[in-house]
Amino acid sequence: MNLIINKVASTRVGGTLLAVGLVLVPSAYGKNSHDSIANNDSQPTVFDFESTYDKPATEEDIRQQRNEQSQNKQTTFRSKNDSRYQDDINDLIFALDNPEESQLKRADTNESSQEELVMADDNQGDQQQYQMIEQIQPHSEPEMPLYPTGECNADALALGIEHFRYADAPASDLVNIGGRRLHKDAAPSLKEMQAAAKQDKVTLTVGSAFRSIRYQSGIINRKKRQGLTDEDIYSVSAPAGYSEHSTGYAVDFYPIDASFAKTKAYQWLLDNAAEYGWIQSFTEEVSEQSNVMVEPWHWRFEGTSEAQQLFSPRSCYSSTPPAGEVIDGDEPISTEVVNEDLEVIELERKDFALQEEWEEYLENKHKDIVGD
Ligand code: DAL
Ligand code: ZN
Repeated sequence: MNLIINKVASTRVGGTLLAVGLVLVPSAYGKNSHDSIANNDSQPTVFDFESTYDKPATEEDIRQQRNEQSQNKQTTFRSKNDSRYQDDINDLIFALDNPEESQLKRADTNESSQEELVMADDNQGDQQQYQMIEQIQPHSEPEMPLYPTGECNADALALGIEHFRYADAPASDLVNIGGRRLHKDAAPSLKEMQAAAKQDKVTLTVGSAFRSIRYQSGIINRKKRQGLTDEDIYSVSAPAGYSEHSTGYAVDFYPIDASFAKTKAYQWLLDNAAEYGWIQSFTEEVSEQSNVMVEPWHWRFEGTSEAQQLFSPRSCYSSTPPAGEVIDGDEPISTEVVNEDLEVIELERKDFALQEEWEEYLENKHKDIVGD
């Protein structure tokens, strides 16, 4: 929140009208590095970063990316609190409140200020009124109680990780796209986009698309059984009931890992996907806010008003206490009551529409028991 200081002073400070404006510019939307672009598109889907933790290298990737994000956050925090600007601002406020003392202070410390002080004395009869409008980023935001809105998963939110709630798409809204399912409104656009990419000699391979809430639950429970912490899990995978994949509007392009950022396919999507109604869900900017890791491979369709509505901005917090809750000026109260994440759900063949998904589930389960 910007603080506006608007004061009228009846004397001149150092004969100069001073104004300071500080603007904090948020990092560019969807900014990603493309140092080396290679085409890795031709291979079939084997490894799904979002739903497996089978390779030690992947866990290392996660740690590395999280360290980088944490460092970026610290840098942002430092720049927001940079005392250089605060010193200038304090001087200005002091000058406005104490015009005479301020002139003496300047005269003490600065030769040119001494000249200005003489000038100011000479012009005593010619004092001017001036208005100073200053926009500053305050040193620290005033503390305001915030209450979970219930839009986000409470367990993840307790760790500072924001995952929004989504329902399963009705089966009647899903269509088959080469062995996977996608929302019927998104499928034609995906097909068109793949054809256009092909014209540019780029292959867009879908590695994952619709995942039911039950399927997502299987992923999360498996990771829990593997001993991963909630923080490790939720910074990569959405809790069941909070994944864009369950809407049928999201796809993961192959390869589903950090290397996708270096593919031609990713560069092509950055340049063209918006034209087809697709956007990258977890950009650096989103990650900065949500603490979900950047996912270059994960894109969602927003090309219809229904889809746009589904993904329209929501907030995990509100300054208004939830209706009906008794607030005595202290503890925020969670409205989150659904927490099925700890429940181990054993799935059956009938829970999978596709044989392929069932086999993947069995394979992962086997790995849980016997290891790689
Ligand atoms: N990887 C994203 C957050 C998901 O699991 O939906
Ligand atoms: Zn995904």
